[in-house]
Amino acid sequence: MSPEATRQVSALIDRIQTQFHESHRRALPELLSMAAALEARGITNGLADELRTMGNALEQHMFKEEMRLFPMMEQGGNTLIGLLIDDLHREHLAHERAMSALRAHLGVLTKAHGTDLVLLQFTQGLDDLAAELAQHIRAEDEELFPLFARPAAAGSPSTANPPSHATSTS
Ligand SMILES: [Fe+2]
Ligand SMILES: [Fe+2]
Repeated sequence: MSPEATRQVSALIDRIQTQFHESHRRALPELLSMAAALEARGITNGLADELRTMGNALEQHMFKEEMRLFPMMEQGGNTLIGLLIDDLHREHLAHERAMSALRAHLGVLTKAHGTDLVLLQFTQGLDDLAAELAQHIRAEDEELFPLFARPAAAGSPSTANPPSHATSTS
């Protein structure tokens, strides 16, 4: 990897850590304490656990990126990086599913307790986290990961050697 490419990778990793990882780590405890307050007042049950499960999975994921992926990338990548990237991409899909489920749960609560101030604050905070998480995942899946993507497998649509006319039907 050229020195210029290495600088670009480092800058993108720094941006991801400050703009997203640190921000998620500030948002999650605040949201958890609001969810606990809602549960203590009987407005919901299960919300804090659901959020904690999602938050723990996100924390483990970010930790894996910081301890394994980012250092590997800053050293220019290696033959195993594609497997790690595939694994992290699958985790992104799981985070998105967990976030959708949590927001669906919240939608039901809002119908019943829509005027509760803490619930409104929680909803706003969760909406902000969901928007940031979506940007975070996009920055990694669409900007960072492709810099280290493995060459496409032979025969896949993005391969450098497209099928010959004899086999192409489109
Ligand atoms: Fe990340
Ligand atoms: Fe990630």
